[in-house]
Amino acid sequence: MTLLARKNDGTFPRAQALSYIYGHPEQRHMERAMPQFGGAMAHDTVPVEINGILTPTPRELAGLLVYLESIQR
Ligand code: HEM
Repeated sequence: MTLLARKNDGTFPRAQALSYIYGHPEQRHMERAMPQFGGAMAHDTVPVEINGILTPTPRELAGLLVYLESIQR
């Protein structure tokens, strides 16, 4: 979790990390081991800048994204 930036040429891959923790509604649950967190939280969103676009993002996941970014080394 602390090496996501290092594995992406030194830049935290914000869009990919958010889309990973959110999960993809079209995925069936056997296709990945990690639970999908986004759908159940979609009632309370805040704008988060992703690739220059303010994107409505579940509040808890926006906080989690900032935390993940803060622990990169
Ligand atoms: C706060 C909770 C969590 C966060 C922020 C988080 C974040 C992430 C991220 C960013 C990746 C992609 C890593 C990469 O691209 O190299 C990942 C992968 C993964 N996560 Fe999590 N995760 C969380 C909870 C969990 C839980 C609860 C499980 C299992 C019960 C889990 C299992 C996995 C697995 C197995 C992968 C590898 C890819 C896959 O099979 O889906 N994670 N996680």
